[in-house]
Amino acid sequence: MPGYLELDPATAERRQIYRTLVGSVVPRPIGWASTVSSEGRSNLAPFSFFTVVCVVPPMISLTIARNPDGSEKHTLKNIRQTGEFCFNVVTEPVWKEMVDSANGFPAEDSEFDETGLTPLASVKIKPPRVKEVPIHFECRLHQVIELGPNRHPLVIGEVVFMHVDPACMTGGYIDMRKLNPIGRLNGFFYATLGEILERKFDDGQPR
Ligand SMILES: Cc1cc2nc3c(=O)[nH]c(=O)nc-3n(C[C@H](O)[C@H](O)[C@H](O)COP(=O)(O)O)c2cc1C
Repeated sequence: MPGYLELDPATAERRQIYRTLVGSVVPRPIGWASTVSSEGRSNLAPFSFFTVVCVVPPMISLTIARNPDGSEKHTLKNIRQTGEFCFNVVTEPVWKEMVDSANGFPAEDSEFDETGLTPLASVKIKPPRVKEVPIHFECRLHQVIELGPNRHPLVIGEVVFMHVDPACMTGGYIDMRKLNPIGRLNGFFYATLGEILERKFDDGQPR
């Protein structure tokens, strides 16, 4: 029996560590973040190093890697300048636009124009929402934690307003079949939900 591939991050190549991380932590939800610059230009980009981190108050996190030259991506620059971003859930009808919004557009071009997506005004923050998706969380920057020797930025935002289209709900819950979310795998691959499994706890109560 062949043994496991063993990797010690202290000595392994960075590329192999990355491939192992993104091939193992799967499928990842995608934080599609809309922001505006201090000059008012809107920006939209996906981040799959993304999750929910707190409930009271509600908080979500995005890890926004630096560009290869060490500079910060437009999303992070905008969040630092304005203290605001909006999380847009990625659903199946717009998954290709989501991928296209990751192309390296110049700062003066808006991904809304480039992808044909429609900006929709937010309630408490300046960044617009993506009209074509049913869930948006308006967020204010809580903290940027810089990780490791390359100061890899982990952005934590407090959710200050939530929008959920009732068309993706059933009986007070967000209905996964109606939502139809998209997750990121590795490489150029993405996933829809496939089969949904259900198993109740012994007492029947949700956890
Ligand atoms: C599905 C998907 C997930 C991504 N996840 C991340 C991520 O977690 N962190 C990151 O820094 N870049 C990620 N990227 C790349 C950024 O979206 C890309 O660098 C984008 O151009 C950044 O835009 P900005 O400079 O306008 O902020 C991802 C791209 C795709 C398509």
